[in-house]
Amino acid sequence: MSEAVNTESVEEQENRRPGQFNFDKGGEIPDPYDVPLEDINVVNPRLFQENKMWGYFERLRNEDPVHFNETDITGRYWSLTKYEDIKAVDCDHERFSSGNGITLGLPVDAELPEGALNISMFIAMDPPKHDVQRATVSPIVAPMSLKKLEPVIRERVCSILDSLPIGEEFEWVDKVSIELTTQMLATLFDFPFEERRKLTRWSDVATAPPGIGIVDTPEQRREELMECLAYFTKLWNERVHQDPPGNDLISMLAHGENTKNMQPFEFLGNLILLIVGGNDTTRNSMSAGVLALNRNPAEYDKLRNDPSLITNMVPEIIRYHTPLPYMRRTANQDIEIRGKQIKAGDQLLMWYVSGNRDDEVIDRPDEFLIDRANARHHLSFGFGIHRCMGNRLAEMQLRVLWEEIMTRFSKVEVVGEPERLRSSFVRGITDLPVRVHPL
Ligand code: HEM
Repeated sequence: MSEAVNTESVEEQENRRPGQFNFDKGGEIPDPYDVPLEDINVVNPRLFQENKMWGYFERLRNEDPVHFNETDITGRYWSLTKYEDIKAVDCDHERFSSGNGITLGLPVDAELPEGALNISMFIAMDPPKHDVQRATVSPIVAPMSLKKLEPVIRERVCSILDSLPIGEEFEWVDKVSIELTTQMLATLFDFPFEERRKLTRWSDVATAPPGIGIVDTPEQRREELMECLAYFTKLWNERVHQDPPGNDLISMLAHGENTKNMQPFEFLGNLILLIVGGNDTTRNSMSAGVLALNRNPAEYDKLRNDPSLITNMVPEIIRYHTPLPYMRRTANQDIEIRGKQIKAGDQLLMWYVSGNRDDEVIDRPDEFLIDRANARHHLSFGFGIHRCMGNRLAEMQLRVLWEEIMTRFSKVEVVGEPERLRSSFVRGITDLPVRVHPL
């Protein structure tokens, strides 16, 4: 979901630096209170892979809520960890720009490394260009469109759930979370249905740092993303002369006054935004809900006793998991926040995952409570002009999924430890072994 597809992930480079807060050589992650405050660097992806970031964020919220780091690769950056600070920065696009990227990256004046893909996408733009591009595609998630999509989603949910092997162990992530979100994406793009797993692959490739996961080298990633561009360009060419235009994301971009003349890398960027935006986030929320209910059996009982709690449970899952832990902004001017002097050009990381656990704003924030009051009062979709475009669609998919689960299964039982993604930008669950029990 970012221009960081350009280059090796900065998070990973940070993780390999000698010295400061470096525990990537297989050593134990230290207790957050044993680390000198100034050495804390919460972008370290291992914290998220091992789900050990909570104590670090708690310490930063209490002791240093606007926390400074500076490295040779990234230059200066600040971690914001309190709810209200994050919301204030997110809502202030005049002073805090998205135009230099939405993940921790190189200093604003640095040159891109050789061979990097210089792509752009509207999440990483400021007005006015951001606004017109967003307006071009947002009808896909307008209330009327969602109304039409709901029966399609329900039919697919039913067919996936009905195909699950009762009483046998299987992988929830692959069989349900990935399959459902990929089918949804294929519908939004009107993408050839039988080839839909290409979308999953491109989504994973776009966010994977080379060398530690599914792609080995930056060249391999570049090659795969160019295949993605070529595939979608073919679809664009087939649809650009269609009259009336189709009601899918590619047709909207191909016919939109403000998008029809996009350069290839802008088309690719927006494709990646829409693929990753609609895929990883919702997929991980589907898995996170199963995990949270298993870890909190009293909440599962509440749900069984009153399935109408699903509508409230969905935003609670999204808060509790926080599928995108942070978004970055860049300061357009010098500014002070909580006594810290932010300089023009500094990067700011808005740690939604921490703000969602801020007890000054959220009551008992570390607890998963499906009947929580004001459950939609969370940061996971961001705020301001970049607030998640697909938030209602994501909530609808999760609601329909849980409605259909509850009419079939007394329990989706987690039968092994989850595996988590090595990333501090996407909070991913990659494996979740389960067994389903009929009613
Ligand atoms: C639980 C699921 C989801 C979560 C947690 C999530 C989270 C986010 C966040 C945090 C942002 C940035 C907000 C900001 O900077 O203030 C965002 C933007 C965006 N999301 Fe989502 N998202 C989800 C699902 C979806 C879906 C299903 C779509 C598909 C249409 C989607 C499309 C987008 C787009 C296009 C943007 C860019 C908006 C802009 O820059 O104006 N998201 N999302």
